[in-house]
Amino acid sequence: AKKAAVGPLVGAVVQGTNSTRFLVFKAKTAELLSYHQVELTQEFPKEGWVEQDPKEILQSVYECIARTCEKLDQENIDISNIKAIGVSNQRETTVVWDRLTGEPLYNAVVWLDLRTQSTVEILSKKIPGNNNFVKSKTGLPLSTYFSAVKLRWLLDNERKVQKAVEEGRALFGTIDSWLIWSMTGGVNGGVHGTDVTNASRTMLFNIHSLKWDKELCDFFEIPMNILPNVWSCSEIYGPMQGGALEGIPISGCLSDQSAALVGQMCFQEGQAKNTYGTGCFLLCNTGRKCIFSEHGLLTTVAYKLGKDKPVYYALEGSVAIAGAVIDWLKDNLGIIKTSEEIEKLAKEVGTSYGCYFVPAFSGLYAPYWEPSARGIICGLTQFTNKCHIAFAALEAVCFQTREILDAMNRDCGIPLHHLQVDGNMTNNKILMQLQADILHIPVIRSSMPETTALGAAMAAGAAEGVGVWSLKQEDLSGITMERIEPQIQVTESEIRYSTWKRAVIKTMGWVS
Ligand code: G3P
Repeated sequence: AKKAAVGPLVGAVVQGTNSTRFLVFKAKTAELLSYHQVELTQEFPKEGWVEQDPKEILQSVYECIARTCEKLDQENIDISNIKAIGVSNQRETTVVWDRLTGEPLYNAVVWLDLRTQSTVEILSKKIPGNNNFVKSKTGLPLSTYFSAVKLRWLLDNERKVQKAVEEGRALFGTIDSWLIWSMTGGVNGGVHGTDVTNASRTMLFNIHSLKWDKELCDFFEIPMNILPNVWSCSEIYGPMQGGALEGIPISGCLSDQSAALVGQMCFQEGQAKNTYGTGCFLLCNTGRKCIFSEHGLLTTVAYKLGKDKPVYYALEGSVAIAGAVIDWLKDNLGIIKTSEEIEKLAKEVGTSYGCYFVPAFSGLYAPYWEPSARGIICGLTQFTNKCHIAFAALEAVCFQTREILDAMNRDCGIPLHHLQVDGNMTNNKILMQLQADILHIPVIRSSMPETTALGAAMAAGAAEGVGVWSLKQEDLSGITMERIEPQIQVTESEIRYSTWKRAVIKTMGWVS
């Protein structure tokens, strides 16, 4: 049958902590035509350790691309209309592989992993001059969260990694680098690159000069020859090798949180978005200026949409555990069978009945940066049941967002009047209402929850040499916004929030 004319299409890989997706959009209108998702395994080999298999991740990308192309074909859409591919990914997660065999030399050490706590302690004692050495160059506090310490751990502890480095065979990258290298040919000339947003999460990248920083590499004792080349978020990295999309350029690469900022069209200074994924990440565009937080937020590269385009920065509030708390209730406690069930349980009671749940599973990130914290559920009585715990878990996501929003307002000086939200969890109506109530500002939810994919597709479609997308607001006229207003009194939300803060204090210093 003759295929329907659809105009140029752009594909986006979204490689998250929990799953991989490939989505295909119509360029300019952002209409989502098809997608496929594959769930991923996370391994917890020891308490506090979190790993993933880089080959499973890569395979999941190929599978998502193949299945999406099949679905398009079934809908009579010619996949030759796909003109570009964008990649967006979980940040910080660290992979080292052998450039001669293409084999990973260890599992991917995931951003949530805590094994580097002692590495961080040792490093923090030898920070030269003042404590600002790392932060002033990278915008980041010295923490287990970022790639440099994970890479340091691999170099200290894994003989295979040490040997490959000595023999000049090792390549380092965050997930974007691993995927792009593999997808553009791997051992047969794959492109070893990353973009400025992912680079800015390694702790080895100078966010002012936009280059790998020799002093930082010396400090962490990281050989610079294993680092990828750094590109902008929107330029042709190289053509896909193999598979249904052979020859199509990969022309967009952004960290998932930057991609969501772009997908939410937060291009103006002061515009912010909050994405609810495994964790929860609130980013506020601070324009061409690097603003350094005094309230526990990070300074990070927001985007650079083209080789010759300016770089934009963001202030970021990072929460480690958001959607992951629901997975924990499902996988570890078994009180729900699917993630969606949490809404039903929470709705049954409509209150936590005084139960507070601080899911400090990986310590606490912003605004505390407290690796010694561990999770607690408190305020329990004989009356408490699983519905109250489910409700408290949703409230925890909202309270954590409130903490980073407060810090953001203090750093920026101008309070946010509403919060733009996206990510899977925003389908949960109870969560969205709770969020508006606890922030006591309206929450704005887009009819297009796939903003991370959209941002990656936009960056890829707008790249020089592709030019099928123009990044203008009017291009997205099909997308509508829903406004969720707070429904409780400020005094009520403040009482709940102050009790939450008491619970947070109890988590601190749990492990030494
Ligand atoms: O910094 C970690 C973040 O990029 C992970 O994103 O979508 O897996 O929660 P996600």
